[in-house]
Amino acid sequence: MARLTWHGHSCFSIEANEGSRILIDPWLDENPTADISADEAVADFILVTHGHSDHFADAVKIAKRTGATLISTFEIVSFAKANGVENGHGMNIGGGYHFRFGFVKMTPAAHSGTVAGDETGRYTSVAGGFWLHLKPVKGETGGPRLYHAGDTALITDMQLLKGKVDLALLPIGDNFTMGPDDAVRAIEMIAPATVVPMHYNTFDAIRQDPEDFVRRVGDRAEVVLLEPGQTHEF
Ligand code: NI
Ligand code: MN
Repeated sequence: MARLTWHGHSCFSIEANEGSRILIDPWLDENPTADISADEAVADFILVTHGHSDHFADAVKIAKRTGATLISTFEIVSFAKANGVENGHGMNIGGGYHFRFGFVKMTPAAHSGTVAGDETGRYTSVAGGFWLHLKPVKGETGGPRLYHAGDTALITDMQLLKGKVDLALLPIGDNFTMGPDDAVRAIEMIAPATVVPMHYNTFDAIRQDPEDFVRRVGDRAEVVLLEPGQTHEF
């Protein structure tokens, strides 16, 4: 089983069946809800959905310390390499690539996309999400499919993921992303087996009641509410 751990906000780590440790949207040191510091983070791969500081802030620092490969848009990876990151793999929306832990495809997001730390404005980049098809446990077929939506509005493009997602990580905070009502509609479009909500209750503008979200989702999907530091196997 692959293991997903929430570190607060949109940051998750995954232990893939193949053994790789994947870190998504690392924002730890300034994140009031994070359970670990950037210095404690471990990673072989770091995936970044977009360049806003609450998703990207600690990515360069962790990539430099661990030697992890940064996977993000071409522009964000270019910025990271210009700032001392050795291993990067640039992608773009709609493109997929086979890594040793599985397949990664960047998905569309309706959101803005400056790059935190870029004083020059040269690295402005679109925002996206990730669809991961992890390799199965040895000797088995299939393999778990995970969707990290990044920061996004509800978009009809999500219908393209219908039947292709076992575990969906969806923002529910509202204000900067879709809120609970639109997240329920996203679940109707994607039809994942399991949902973990994210990007809520980190700061005042995105206060939500996760228990109420569970009730609103009803029998459309299983909703797993994690506390920072908690793990879910999938
Ligand atoms: Ni953002
Ligand atoms: Mn955000």
